[in-house]
Amino acid sequence: MVSLRLNNSPRVPSFWGPFALGAVLMLISTFSEPIWQNFYIVRGTAANTTVKVGAWGACTALRNTTGVNGPTSWCSDKHSGFDYYVELNTTGVQQFPTIADDAAILGTDAPANNRALVIGSGATSTYWLHVAAVITGGLACLSLIMKPSQLGSEQSRLFALQKSGILTILLAITACILSFVCFIVEIIVAIPARNKLNAIPGITGHLGNIQWFSLPSSVCMLVGILSVLLRSTVQHEYVDL
Ligand SMILES: *[C@@H]1O[C@H](CO)[C@@H](O)[C@H](O)[C@H]1NC(C)=O
Ligand SMILES: *[C@@H]1O[C@H](CO)[C@@H](O)[C@H](O)[C@H]1NC(C)=O
Ligand SMILES: *[C@@H]1O[C@H](CO)[C@@H](O)[C@H](O)[C@H]1NC(C)=O
Repeated sequence: MVSLRLNNSPRVPSFWGPFALGAVLMLISTFSEPIWQNFYIVRGTAANTTVKVGAWGACTALRNTTGVNGPTSWCSDKHSGFDYYVELNTTGVQQFPTIADDAAILGTDAPANNRALVIGSGATSTYWLHVAAVITGGLACLSLIMKPSQLGSEQSRLFALQKSGILTILLAITACILSFVCFIVEIIVAIPARNKLNAIPGITGHLGNIQWFSLPSSVCMLVGILSVLLRSTVQHEYVDL
């Protein structure tokens, strides 16, 4: 006999509403620079150029586009686990490169003795955790799609497993923990990167916004999970069998 059982089914809006919202927040913030210029780890501003460094590359832009013809932003290629350097200008005004060249934008073509490492490949690789949280959260949502009765008769193990919701809850708890770990790791990555930008004369560093999606995301997921685990202990009447 299969006796897997939670007191409450996660197949209720009070679970999947907040949980799916959390998963969607994680999903959209995954598409950071240079894929989508709304999400980034750090931003640096120089005299009249800006750089936004994201999880998968960087984009530079002109701050003052007055009288400029042609493109006003330039992006690196898409990378996973890349180094980002700023080439130092010791003779003139410090600016970010405004040419469509991957190595120039990431500063990897600058002479080794004349560049400052802002964020290293170890740090940018940690954004795969963000992807792992999205996948686990997505699987938790997908695991709710089939009703128990669509998986077999009431005597079958699959029916009992799906009715218990245990798979969904385990995936959901994993996604929630991963999202919170993402927040911690992203703060640990972003703050030194901002400080290194600030340390370069002529550049001001600002924190980006990716990490401010991971924290609310994990809170939304937690709210959904607690709505299942803390609901009254009266045996839930399953209406969706
Ligand atoms: C860049 O800044 C300098 C000094 O602040 C200014 O003289 C110049 O016009 C600016 N260039 C553009 C393209 O805005
Ligand atoms: C923008 O460019 C214009 C014209 O070059 C200049 O007058 C203005 O001061 C610039 N503004 C900033 C914020 O650099
Ligand atoms: C440094 O800045 C000056 C202008 O301020 C520019 O002409 C020169 O090319 C820059 N050097 C580097 C290495 O970017």
